[in-house]
Amino acid sequence: MSDSPHSDSERSTRTAAVIPAAGRGVRLGPGTPKALRALSGTPMLVHAVRAMARSRAVSLVVVVAPPDGAAEVRTLLDDHALPETTEVRVVPGGETRQESVRLGLAALPDDVGVVLVHDAARPLVPVDTVDAVAAAVRNGAAAVVPALPLADTVKEVEPRTGAEAGEPEPVVATPERSRLRAVQTPQGFDRATLVKAHESVALEGEGATDDAGMVERLGVPVVVVPGHEEAFKVTRPLDLVLAEAVLARRRATDGF
Ligand code: CTP
Ligand code: MG
Repeated sequence: MSDSPHSDSERSTRTAAVIPAAGRGVRLGPGTPKALRALSGTPMLVHAVRAMARSRAVSLVVVVAPPDGAAEVRTLLDDHALPETTEVRVVPGGETRQESVRLGLAALPDDVGVVLVHDAARPLVPVDTVDAVAAAVRNGAAAVVPALPLADTVKEVEPRTGAEAGEPEPVVATPERSRLRAVQTPQGFDRATLVKAHESVALEGEGATDDAGMVERLGVPVVVVPGHEEAFKVTRPLDLVLAEAVLARRRATDGF
C-alpha cells in the first residue's frame, strides 16, 4: 500500500530547476548584469536560487550564468548560504534566453524527469507557487504555467518603430481582457517535452522568451495555474523599488 499519490515511475525521477540568469538587463539600465544586482544587499540570483531550493520538490538547481561570467557566479553562490540538500550547478549561457535555457537543459543529469524553468529576474516568487507548479507536472501535466489576470486592458496595434517611433499606432484589435493571463515563472515541464521543444523550435531573431509557447508549437497542451503578485519580473528601475518594499515587508512580518 502506498501512502503517496505518485506512481513508482513518478517517484523515481527528480525535479530540477533551470535558472536562466545570463541576460544583461538592458531595460534596467547600465551597470552590473541584472541577475547580479543586489536586492536588500543580496544578489537577485541568490534570492532566485533560494526561492527554488526552498521547495522540497527541487533537489538540483542549474544556474545559467552570463557567457563570460560562470566562474564569478560559481564563487558568488559558494559565498552565500544555500540549503545543503540542494545541488547547484553553474553553466555559461548564450546570446538569447532561448539559447540559455537550452544550455541549462543540456546540463541536467539523466535522472531528472521534471524541469522548472525560472527567471533569475523573478527573485521573490513564493514557495507555494513553486510547489504548485511542480505538483501539477508530477500529477501528469506536460507543461504548467503560473499566470495572473491582467489589470490593464490590452490592445493589439500596428507598431510604429524605427524612423516612425513615437507616431500614433493604429489599433488592430482589443482582446477580451477576462480571457487573457500574464504569465510568470517557474514554468514546469515534463523534461522530454521541453527538450523536444528546444530541439524543434529554431532560433529566430531575439529567440522565444516563453518556454511554454515553444511547447504549444509542438501541439502539446499547456495549462495555467494561479501565479502570484510577488513573482513579478524585475525589468525596469521601478521594479527594484517594488522588490525592496516586498523584502522589507517580509522582514517586518515574519522576520525573514
Ligand atoms: N536571460 C538569459 N540569457 C539571455 C537573456 C536573458 O539567461 N541571453 C535570462 C535573464 O537573465 C532573465 C530571464 O532570462 O533572468 C528573463 O529575461 P529578461 O527579464 O528579459 O532579462 P534581460 O534579458 O537580462 O533584460 P533585458 O531584456 O531588459 O535586457
Ligand atoms: Mg531580455
